[in-house]
Amino acid sequence: MALLHILRYPDRRLHKVAARVERVDGGIRKLIKDMANTMYAAPGVGLAATQVDVHKRVIIIDVSETRDQLNVFINPELTAASGEAEREEGCLSVPGVFEKVRRAERITVRALDGDGSPFTLQAEGLLAVCIQHEMDHLEGKVFVEYLSRLKQQRILARLKKQGRRAPQPEAGRPVL
Ligand code: NI
Repeated sequence: MALLHILRYPDRRLHKVAARVERVDGGIRKLIKDMANTMYAAPGVGLAATQVDVHKRVIIIDVSETRDQLNVFINPELTAASGEAEREEGCLSVPGVFEKVRRAERITVRALDGDGSPFTLQAEGLLAVCIQHEMDHLEGKVFVEYLSRLKQQRILARLKKQGRRAPQPEAGRPVL
């Protein structure tokens, strides 16, 4: 079992665009296992491969209370999106920062699961937020980039000040 290093904003590698997975092989399955260990240990409810400096279109999410409902999305694509909802988000790559972001309320996503089988999922609430947040990571986008320039500058200053010391995640605040 390996714990992977999570890149911290504003690391430039967080802005790389991930490549499609051509084949779900042993390497991808090991990546998923290591990402899951890393996400649960952090702890967070979602993690994109981009955040562990692997630029492949793989995201994992577990929004369950019991932390045993792992969702794997390989090459995810939104096929429908409707409504609008604003919700507070955090991110394992931006420790200690929580800000409201407006996103689609309901989405339909198509992807491959951890065995390489295609599936379609309709999601709303926290799961929908999380899927959109992680899919942004695959495009090289970090959630703070939705905020005003002033807010982004304040966040950058704060991250610089806190240095390597990451604040402990707070209960009830989703870290994606
Ligand atoms: Ni994130």
